[in-house]
Amino acid sequence: MRRNWMKWSLWVVAVVVLSLPVASWAQLTTQDIAARDNMEAHVGNLTGHANSGQAKYDYRRYCVGCHGDLGDGNGEVAQWLDPPMWPKPRDFQLGIFKCRSTPTGTLPTDQDLYDAISRGFDRSAMPIWNVFTKQQRVDLVAFVKHFSPRFVSEKPGTPIQIPPEPEVTADRVKNGREIFARVQCWKCHGVTGQANGPSASTLQDDLGRPIAAFNFTEGARPKCGSTDQDIYRIFMTGLDGTPMPSFADNIKPDEAWDLVFYLRTLMAQPSKEKDIARQLGLKPVSPNP
Ligand code: HEC
Ligand code: HEC
Repeated sequence: MRRNWMKWSLWVVAVVVLSLPVASWAQLTTQDIAARDNMEAHVGNLTGHANSGQAKYDYRRYCVGCHGDLGDGNGEVAQWLDPPMWPKPRDFQLGIFKCRSTPTGTLPTDQDLYDAISRGFDRSAMPIWNVFTKQQRVDLVAFVKHFSPRFVSEKPGTPIQIPPEPEVTADRVKNGREIFARVQCWKCHGVTGQANGPSASTLQDDLGRPIAAFNFTEGARPKCGSTDQDIYRIFMTGLDGTPMPSFADNIKPDEAWDLVFYLRTLMAQPSKEKDIARQLGLKPVSPNP
């Protein structure tokens, strides 16, 4: 009985795994996409419309070169972008996004997409679009969404709860170091945060393209925001489509703050945490505890 069940579950897993790449190969046509022309986006009290003249104009003028006519990331410029140095433009048809306030595997909120567009992506060709009016950006969010059928069949995830930020203390920084060691952030990011861990050179994104881990030490801006809250969100939701996982199941909310504080000690920017680490004479974690 048990064996039979195992056999069945293996089959189910095999079918699901095999159908994943097929689903993403299936190209959507212009007609499929036109069917979602009335897609909306809501940010604050603004409503964006995919079928507004402004959205269509702005997308064609400013986004199409990279993200392509069909939103599949195959714009003219894409061929010149070589990962890991230059990540490829996002394929909007897949509906998979790096910067989310929502749990891994779920759709981002409209606000998340709005923030990503406004912020731009450091260490990539994706520009900062904060010169647009808010309305233009909300229209573009609706336009980005209309490329993926996921936004018709699924609701965005519920944003994760972030508890209020506690006071930084030496104990919290030390505890953050323990967590960095325990959940093995160093495997990719390296014990000193220089993106040179044992797995770093073999990392690939979900589309099989080489991808670099984040180097904490060179003063680079995280793609999904640089505030303490942003950093907290990054490792508790993960960057979907990349090897950067969600640690929501392995790190408790209060511990997560300690980890944020420890990450600050690795970063180039001066901080209270860096001062504390210096006073403590804190050493990098050991890969072989
Ligand atoms: C010069 C090329 C280029 C242009 C122009 C461009 N993008 Fe991008 N965009 C990218 C690249 C490259 C990425 C992926 C970056 C990464 O994964 O690190 C990206 C990613 C994104 C994402 C994904 C956000 C996430 O959380 O995963 C959105 C949304 C987006 N772009 C919207 C836009 C919009 C809207 C425009 C036009 C106003 C635009 N982009 C113009 C190159 C471009
Ligand atoms: C399996 C490899 C792997 C592990 C383990 C891993 N990361 Fe990452 N991490 C990555 C990759 C790859 C990126 C770069 C993603 C990108 O640029 O699209 C990244 C990016 C990041 C970023 C920057 C995100 C941004 O917005 O640019 C932070 C912060 C981060 N990781 C923190 C952590 C922490 C904290 C841990 C442990 C709790 C951890 N990572 C574990 C692979 C990993």
